[in-house]
Amino acid sequence: MQRNIKDIVRTMTLEEKASLCSGLDFWHTKSVDRVGIPSIMMTDGPHGMRKATEETGDLGLNASVPATCFPSGVGLAASWNRELIENVGRALGREAQAENVGILLGPAVNIKRSPLCGRNFEYFSEDPYLTGEIAKHHIRGIQSEGVGTSIKHFAANNQEKLRMTINAVVDERPLREIYLAGFETAVRESQPWTVMCAYNRLNGVYCAENEWLLTTVLKKEWGHTGIVVTDWGACNDRVAGLAAGQELEMPGNGGITDVDIVRAVKSGQLDVTILDRAVERLLDVTFRAIDGHRPDVKFDATAHHRIARDTAAECMVLLKNEDGALPLARKGTVAFIGEFARTPRYQGGGSSHMNPTRIDSAVEEAQALIGSGGSISFAPGYTLENSAPEPALIAEAVKVAKSADAAVVFIGLTDQFESEGFDRSHMEIPASHTALLDAILAVQSHVVVVLSNGSPIEMPWVSRPGAILESYLGGQAWGGAVADILFGVTSPSGKLAETFPERIQDNPSYLSFPGDGRNVEYREGVFVGYRYYDKKLFKPLFPFGHGLSYAEFQYSDLKLSSSRIKDSDELGVTVRITNIGKVEGKEIVQLYVEDIESTVIRPVRELKGFQKIGLKPGESKQVSFTLSKRSFAYWDQPTSGWRVESGEFHISIGSSSRDIRCTGSVTVESSFRVDTHFDLNSTLMDVSRHPAGAQFAEQVRKGFMAHLGAGSLDPVGALMFEAMVNEMPLRNIVRMGGGQISSETMQGLIAQLNGG
Ligand code: BGC
Repeated sequence: MQRNIKDIVRTMTLEEKASLCSGLDFWHTKSVDRVGIPSIMMTDGPHGMRKATEETGDLGLNASVPATCFPSGVGLAASWNRELIENVGRALGREAQAENVGILLGPAVNIKRSPLCGRNFEYFSEDPYLTGEIAKHHIRGIQSEGVGTSIKHFAANNQEKLRMTINAVVDERPLREIYLAGFETAVRESQPWTVMCAYNRLNGVYCAENEWLLTTVLKKEWGHTGIVVTDWGACNDRVAGLAAGQELEMPGNGGITDVDIVRAVKSGQLDVTILDRAVERLLDVTFRAIDGHRPDVKFDATAHHRIARDTAAECMVLLKNEDGALPLARKGTVAFIGEFARTPRYQGGGSSHMNPTRIDSAVEEAQALIGSGGSISFAPGYTLENSAPEPALIAEAVKVAKSADAAVVFIGLTDQFESEGFDRSHMEIPASHTALLDAILAVQSHVVVVLSNGSPIEMPWVSRPGAILESYLGGQAWGGAVADILFGVTSPSGKLAETFPERIQDNPSYLSFPGDGRNVEYREGVFVGYRYYDKKLFKPLFPFGHGLSYAEFQYSDLKLSSSRIKDSDELGVTVRITNIGKVEGKEIVQLYVEDIESTVIRPVRELKGFQKIGLKPGESKQVSFTLSKRSFAYWDQPTSGWRVESGEFHISIGSSSRDIRCTGSVTVESSFRVDTHFDLNSTLMDVSRHPAGAQFAEQVRKGFMAHLGAGSLDPVGALMFEAMVNEMPLRNIVRMGGGQISSETMQGLIAQLNGG
């Protein structure tokens, strides 16, 4: 419907305008009936709608209306499948429509800085490019159904410890390259209706009132057109927040802070135009939800369950598969060991915890799949409540596993081990799970491990089972999806969106996570996840991008559209992938860019493209990528901008970050002109890099070396001298050069270099 929002705002009283800047209650915005402004509802969350039923009161953490529970963020990202994610988004959007929910509070896109973050199960990846792509499509899917999203938690909310007060201290380069980049892609390319600002402080200022973050970067640089909503309870100073670009405080507080806004306008502390602008944005988003609502939409729970099952199967990562341990034969007896096989751990704890329309167990689904040709036996092996080994349960499980042809052991993390609200203190799984696995490995030679967890775990036992399937928190249809993969109905096609280190001590944030109670310093800079392990030549347990298939893929014919480009040009890359295996499968082809000649300290390689393709046996397809300036750039702190250094770059195509199959090379010419100011403390090397200074620098270098008698030095001495002279400030060339270069000559040169 056509409305003139500015006109509506003009007719509103100061009190009415201020009232819109905080919620009505836990989940609704306020209405202003006098001028025809309705209230809209928002609700969690990323992987399923958690609409509180009326009886649950404010927090609504217990009961919510039944909705489809899709795999949580970590799993969705491991699918690396843009279309699949968009399809999940559409299903989420339809469910929200059916319940008249205007905005779904997700996706959650914070970077996995440490495997210990309690909320990693909700977040996508340690890599900003993958995060941005997944978020972009998640948002597109939901919003295509006329329902808004809330990308969260903006920004640097990478731990749960003291999340409401901690100050994340992050340099601008890691912020831009790692922590903001995923948000940036999603905002620029999908325009989420709302951005949820995080609880924490960023570089000393609460995100909810951080003008640099909310206005300079989000609104001005990235062009966000929607509103900023606070995380629930993240508002510190309401007036400062509004001035910084935060439009909506949630949840409602009985109007306490609306009064602060009125008072601030009346006293002249807050310019009313700031309030007006915020209200215009609020109304724009409100009417998007109202106009987008389609009361006739109903969702088909069975069809959505099917989407959940197909999605879950694409999210699982086959970490290891030796001697054909998987897939399992659909005959004989297969023992399913572990309570998770009967009672799945399919979602995480906290605000995203919702009420599924149904839950499939692996035992039942596997039995249904193999039919009468074989049988699934079961023993729980542990209880969900007790982490200590229970000998009687283990003994029973051993008996069941021993008499079967193969055993699948279902272990991982129970609810007590990871959740929103607190971080893990270690990466171990419950002792009851390890003891069970040990006991089964002792009596059965064909053992497959299925893991249910939201974040990496230590696996001191990794070499012993024949296969390991990381199933993550796979949503309500997890059981069927696991059965599909175990028995070869589907070939696994997920790949890790995060590194599994061998032990937590290897993680780059280990020395500074989770901070000292007031500050958490991101001292590892841009070296997050694989960027660190690659640079340090650490061999992780399982690298970023790793995941096996029942098919086998061959990479060939890598072609670059040019061997030399300007940084303003695009580069086309193609590569041929052939399925040389015996079954159909999907491969995730990854493109990494490596800066070979760099004066800046950069990661060895960075993900800048990926494609997921399906191939029948013998089939072959060409995969294409397009790279642009940003694919080669780093954030240049001194000039506050994205910069590409001239020189050679490698384009590496891999099946994982540590399994590079082909590499090409391109030389990029930078458009960046260094506007260096020269003075007596500039070095001879600085001068030699300037087009007008190269010849002079060379002459001076030679003369100076001759004056110091460098010619008579042994080779090592000569090397030492050359290095010293190159890095010598110009003042010393004058002072130590034996009068070869006068002060006046040097000043003249400096003036010339400075364009004088
Ligand atoms: C969480 C958000 C969530 C909100 C509403 C907060 O505690 O951090 O992710 O959307 O609650 O439930």
